[in-house]
Amino acid sequence: DLELHTAKFPWSHDGVFSSLDHASIRRGYEVYKNVCAACHSMKYIAFRNLVGVSHTEAEAKEEAMGVQIDDGPDDEGMMFKRPGKLSDYFPNPYPNDEAARSANNGALPPDLSYITSARHGGENYIFSLLTGYCDPPAGVSVREGLYYNPYFVGGAIGMAQALYNEVMEYSDGTPATASQMAKDVSVFLKWAAEPEHDDRKKMALKALMMFSMLFSITYYIKRHKWAVLK
Ligand code: HEM
Repeated sequence: DLELHTAKFPWSHDGVFSSLDHASIRRGYEVYKNVCAACHSMKYIAFRNLVGVSHTEAEAKEEAMGVQIDDGPDDEGMMFKRPGKLSDYFPNPYPNDEAARSANNGALPPDLSYITSARHGGENYIFSLLTGYCDPPAGVSVREGLYYNPYFVGGAIGMAQALYNEVMEYSDGTPATASQMAKDVSVFLKWAAEPEHDDRKKMALKALMMFSMLFSITYYIKRHKWAVLK
């Protein structure tokens, strides 16, 4: 195969008991909304899922109100749109796969809800892919409408480089460099695919504390009861 393996990056959520970086999830949502959402759906993520994770309820409502949701068709088959609500899922930028393909030279932008679980390398792969665009090496040429990316299987991808320094601004003032945006959107997509990530690690910590306490008690009782026989 032609493609490169992704490097393993030192994510702050890598530790056995480390949570995701929620400020990064919030910035990553902004990257998704301003850049990726033009082509990629996230049909399993609803605006209410952001509440308490990256946004307050009022903020998530406002995000929802900023999108148009299909609300129809009526008796004559007319499609209507309405502003989103907390319970709505992120909208698809295209009416169907056919429209999505014809807007992208035949390539279908995959739904990003579970992409870090669906692709080998997870968030490391997403970061590498987004920052890995470069000129093809000598002797390699890519077909019209495809772009060279050494991290994509086969090396030629139907998605153009999406992240350039300052293609958007962050609401928290973090400088929006291409690598910062790639990192944040990777964390956001990691959260989307594994929303139970933090709870899982917290539960592991509780379980460990509980078992070590029970073990200590058991060990003490065992020594105590057997003392007379030894
Ligand atoms: C494919 C992420 C922006 C169009 C993909 C893939 C990922 C991804 C993970 C799958 C690669 C694979 O199959 O291994 C993102 C992210 C974006 C973004 C995180 C924002 C930062 C865009 C934009 C467009 C686009 C703005 C359209 C202008 C596509 C297309 C494919 C694709 C057409 C399919 C490529 C192929 O199968 O050859 N994207 N993308 N993406 N993306 Fe994006």
